[in-house]
Amino acid sequence: MAPKGLRLLPLTLMFLLLQAATANPRHENVIDRCWRGRGNWAANRQRLAVCSVGFAGKMRQNRGAGVTPYTVTDPSDDPVRPRPGTLRYGATVLPGKVWITFQRDMHIRLAQPLFVKSFTAIDGRGADVHIAGGAGIVLYEVNNVIIHGLQVHGVRAQPAGRVVRPGGAVQTVDVGDGDAIRLVTSSKVWIDHNTLSRCEDGLLDVTLGSTDVTVSNNWFHDHDKVMLLGHDDGQLTDRRMRVTVAFNRFGPNVNQRMPRIRHGYAHVVNNFYDGWRDYAIGGSMGPSVKSQGNLFIASTPDSSNVTRRMPAGDAAGKEWHWHSVGDSFENGAFFHQMGSRVRPNYNRHQAFPAASSSVVRSLTKDAGALRCSARSAC
Ligand SMILES: *[C@@H]1O[C@H](CO)[C@@H](O)[C@H](O)[C@H]1NC(C)=O
Repeated sequence: MAPKGLRLLPLTLMFLLLQAATANPRHENVIDRCWRGRGNWAANRQRLAVCSVGFAGKMRQNRGAGVTPYTVTDPSDDPVRPRPGTLRYGATVLPGKVWITFQRDMHIRLAQPLFVKSFTAIDGRGADVHIAGGAGIVLYEVNNVIIHGLQVHGVRAQPAGRVVRPGGAVQTVDVGDGDAIRLVTSSKVWIDHNTLSRCEDGLLDVTLGSTDVTVSNNWFHDHDKVMLLGHDDGQLTDRRMRVTVAFNRFGPNVNQRMPRIRHGYAHVVNNFYDGWRDYAIGGSMGPSVKSQGNLFIASTPDSSNVTRRMPAGDAAGKEWHWHSVGDSFENGAFFHQMGSRVRPNYNRHQAFPAASSSVVRSLTKDAGALRCSARSAC
């Protein structure tokens, strides 16, 4: 007679399969499931705003009757007097709340950094939009910003020059760093489904007291320094920085900073790490990290340590709290835990269930800018 456990096995399996099928038929993550697959997504673009999770919370302020829809029809860029129809006109100059879409596929070379206003959503769905070969995107002292569906690559530091800022003032900006997207003292920001690669400096920098940020569903590849959370060790305002990094795909061909965090707190959950050279998650100044349900695949035995703790003088921070819950490790990858467990303490608008690391490949398979047609499911 078969042991009891064995007889129960098929039943248990059936139950688990059934549960998986009803809970998440396409293995979509909780953000995508909220809006994708609806044939009418293009008729209700602003639905996206309530699909965010993590520290950014819901982006409810970006939707509703008071929001001006704006269509980019002109890929040119004048950094001082942007013409109506250009991205810069909609993202920097147009007053009030704005939801920006793109009329067709386009390649925009920004002559100077694009300063995005508060209450602005840049929504690349339905078009193939490249911000490439010029300056990057800057969020400077703003809040309630969504950046979705862009391909940002080949960003280079531009010579100092004049550029219009939100509110209309024209200002001279210094030579930039060549970051794809940089947040400076900004909060409530959601960066979702973008493809970022091959820039001169970082792909995503969250700096100078920025907080309440969610970085989700992005694909970061072919780049050295991927994501910086906290610009320098002396920046104590970054102690309040809280960032959620979820459902992203890192790699191939990435070296470090996925992310690199100073001070602050990062919840790094359900990401797919397709190899790294120096390290995956690093930091200094005693930041806290909860790494949960990620899949870490080391590229070589020499680069198998997920974590890197940077020495930074005496003040390197005694309060290091880095822990790993339910992560999966392949090819020898390992996570060096330290300190105790610190929870994200999400409120009900931010909280979301972390999935098992065993489904991370499928949860992240559409990471990056999506190719969707306005007439069909996305
Ligand atoms: C992995 O990295 C951590 C953080 O830098 C370090 O403390 C630990 O010693 C490393 N482990 C190995 C085996 O190299």
